[in-house]
Amino acid sequence: MAIIDKIKAKAKSDVKHIVLPEGEESRNAQAAIIIAREGLAKLTLLGDPEKVRAAAGDPLEGIEIIDPAKSEKCAEYASTLYELRKAKGMTEEKAAELVRDPMYYGVMMVKCGDADGLVSGAIHSTGDMLRPALQIIKSKPGIKTVSSCFLMECPNKDYGENGVLIFADCAVNPEPDAEALANIALGAADSARSLAGIEPKVAMLSFSTKGSAKHDMVTKVQEATRIAKEMAPELALDGELQLDAALVESVGQLKAPGSTVAGHANTLVFPDLGAGNIGYKLVQRLAGAEAYGPILQGIAKPCNDLSRGCSVEDIVATVAITAAQAQG
Ligand code: ACO
Repeated sequence: MAIIDKIKAKAKSDVKHIVLPEGEESRNAQAAIIIAREGLAKLTLLGDPEKVRAAAGDPLEGIEIIDPAKSEKCAEYASTLYELRKAKGMTEEKAAELVRDPMYYGVMMVKCGDADGLVSGAIHSTGDMLRPALQIIKSKPGIKTVSSCFLMECPNKDYGENGVLIFADCAVNPEPDAEALANIALGAADSARSLAGIEPKVAMLSFSTKGSAKHDMVTKVQEATRIAKEMAPELALDGELQLDAALVESVGQLKAPGSTVAGHANTLVFPDLGAGNIGYKLVQRLAGAEAYGPILQGIAKPCNDLSRGCSVEDIVATVAITAAQAQG
């Protein structure tokens, strides 16, 4: 069974409530009909009900529509937002204005427990989608840095766990320091368990294996490896490893003898966003892998971003992933 079908089955087994702030956008509204029909999630679409229905084309049976401009919840959300952000300069007037924006209204629904997760980004940039989620929902206890992963399913089943791998961070933190990189590694391990259903073997990637090269960028990955091991001593995690040492058994044995990860890694932690973002796209385009994401990890409640070029099917898949994450 394809990994996305396993995730959809998981989503259906314990249905969660997901909010789509971009309800007036046609791909979101059309995806909602499929999600409701397949029973992947309970849905709320945000927007002017007339515009949402027009965007869907077909009847939106069993799907809630809320217009943030007219919602009676606005006062409660504005007061909560003001309390959460007043130390950062938020005023009561600004909070009242912001909660009428569907992005903020959706994030407040999740924050206040009125929805289990959020999916947005078909018409918002990654930064505009992430900022309210980071400011309001914040990271999980014990994790400082929210990051992202891609769930990769490769046609070549020789690598990772039968061709399935987690790549992180590919979308959020441009230049993580050693501590942030260790947080990314722990978030990725969590994603491997909760989404891919695999026991993580985490490789901290570099252009050096076990000190074969000397550079500040190598030192950062070595330090991140040390911090991650301190934070999660039971986790199978090793570094710094070159990609071939992480994935290919013979190279792993040669370059990192005795490592429990080298040659068998299924969770790849890239040293920065340049490497991670380029890396997942190389594997997607040149190796023909399915790439699901970016999936936020390390955040207290699931919120996921869509690409502006996303298809209706991409939105359906992202809602299923978000619903599966909401199960914990
Ligand atoms: N983890 C936890 N909290 C964070 C993080 C993080 N990684 N980043 C920012 N925050 C918090 C800050 O602490 C701050 O909280 P506060 O206001 O309570 O103090 C809040 O979020 C806002 O932080 P800013 O620094 O003001 O936000 P910034 O403008 O830097 O935006 C963002 C953060 C959006 C994540 C930024 O780093 C970014 O744009 N990243 C790259 C996104 C991108 O373009 N990705 C590539 C495309 S995606 C793709 O190709 C699939």
